[in-house]
Amino acid sequence: MTSTNETGTHGAIVTDDAPESTGGAIVELRGAGKSYGNIRALHGVDLKVHPGRVSCVLGDNGAGKSTLIKIISGLHQHTEGDFLVDGDPVRFSTPREALDKGIATVYQDLAVVPLMPVWRNFFLGSEMTKGPWPVRRLDIEAMKKTADTELRNMGIVLDDLEQPIGTLSGGQRQCVAIARAVYFGARVLILDEPTAALGVKQSGVVLKYIAAAREKGLGVIFITHNPHHAYMVGDHFSVLRLGTMELSASRAEVSLEELTNHMAGGAELAALKHELSQVSGVDVEELPEEKDLTAPVASAPEGKA
Ligand SMILES: Nc1ncnc2c1ncn2[C@@H]1O[C@H](COP(=O)(O)OP(=O)(O)O)[C@@H](O)[C@H]1O
Ligand SMILES: [Mg+2]
Repeated sequence: MTSTNETGTHGAIVTDDAPESTGGAIVELRGAGKSYGNIRALHGVDLKVHPGRVSCVLGDNGAGKSTLIKIISGLHQHTEGDFLVDGDPVRFSTPREALDKGIATVYQDLAVVPLMPVWRNFFLGSEMTKGPWPVRRLDIEAMKKTADTELRNMGIVLDDLEQPIGTLSGGQRQCVAIARAVYFGARVLILDEPTAALGVKQSGVVLKYIAAAREKGLGVIFITHNPHHAYMVGDHFSVLRLGTMELSASRAEVSLEELTNHMAGGAELAALKHELSQVSGVDVEELPEEKDLTAPVASAPEGKA
């Protein structure tokens, strides 16, 4: 059993291997799983999300990533294992319940109204109002001002918040969604493949705001099939394969090369090497050939700058 001391943003030393406590985790899954009728989409998943840390969940298509986050975000219920928030077992019936616990999800399709202005989308579903009931009206000035301030706080500078959000790039829209979640008090931010449809440069921008959310003390669950993106911001890595977790390792326990190998599997590695060589400055010749990654990884103290 590995023993890893972690230092969260609040300076508390927590021990990763105490099964009886969540060790400061906001969200924890213990042997969690989900069946859709006869289809066992997810099985035996352990995951912890700590404040101020990024937990990456990697896996190929169909690995169970979306199923995993749907459980945490309240869209689906787990059918096996435990799901705890702040150490208490929970079972959400709606995404609203997850949101009330501070768990916000940014979906790939983003659920924005493309023709509405940026500021309007920022407050969509949680509009600011003024005046007494029953004559409450939208407080447009306050919403514009707040959206502007909040976006700037996250380092997101847009020329004009009146422009329809549909005119923003995919990366910018993801950033607005992240800033929105931070503003509305999210403690856990779930991002489902936020960089999947983006080019290299825009992906970089989104990764920057993932790091910004972490700096603000949020626990981030970053879903991706790109080990390279994961490794740029991740503190912990979980690899799903065919619905089970085949790797759970802290940053100190796994290298980018090992992560890539886990993700790709030996046979698919060649194709991925080719892809990586185009994506970024990876020296593909340096990537290891298929090797035994099932061997236990030596524990190492983990520190975060
Ligand atoms: N609503 C559903 N009903 C039945 N099977 C589903 C449903 N959602 C996902 N699955 C199945 O569960 C498995 C995992 O899917 P998913 O969680 O979407 O994976 P990923 O997001 O990693 O691509 C797949 O085999 C998929 O076909
Ligand atoms: Mg998915």
